[in-house]
Amino acid sequence: KRSRDTREVRDYIRTIVDFPKEGIIFRDVTTLFADARGFRMAVDQLLSPYAGEAIDKVVGLEARGFILGGAVAHQLSVGFVPIRKKGKLPGAVISQAYALEYGEAVVEIHDDALKAGDRVLIVDDLLATGGTAAAGISLCARLGAEVIGCAFVIDLPELGGRKLLEGMGHEVYALTS
Ligand code: PRP
Ligand code: ADE
Repeated sequence: KRSRDTREVRDYIRTIVDFPKEGIIFRDVTTLFADARGFRMAVDQLLSPYAGEAIDKVVGLEARGFILGGAVAHQLSVGFVPIRKKGKLPGAVISQAYALEYGEAVVEIHDDALKAGDRVLIVDDLLATGGTAAAGISLCARLGAEVIGCAFVIDLPELGGRKLLEGMGHEVYALTS
């Protein structure tokens, strides 16, 4: 008889040192997504705190947040809305700049993708400095939507993202650190 598979979500995530540059310990979720059991576990666990909550849209952050967010939206039977890097969305957008380690980046959302009062769940693979998620929250708020939660597979708490989002009044949920 084969022994029961006791692997947790964290066990499927691969670590690659010095990517994309020296000193960065990169958390590679492609190995999680590629495994049927791991991917299902991650999606099911991301949803679990929001059972019974009214959610109108799942908002995913490019690019890895699309993979998780699409699956979460499907499971909740709600629509999916992408937040993309500047210049990728074809329709009318609103834009939000945010700080990177060096310089600045811009993310965008279609200006008709959410409506006032929509209850939104933001999904991404990883929370580091929180800059990306904070910009995403701002875009949702500027369209009048209410961000009811921010769900991540990985939280790197030493980088301050959780503190930043909680300081903005948002609940953060993560599966592992
Ligand atoms: C990564 C990750 C998050 C973000 C977290 O995406 O998927 O979206 O960084 O970092 P932060 O909390 O410091 O903002 P990245 O910008 O590398 O884009 P990608 O998913 O398109 O590769
Ligand atoms: N995005 C920001 N920091 C990261 C890390 N350490 N691994 C993967 N994605 C990241």
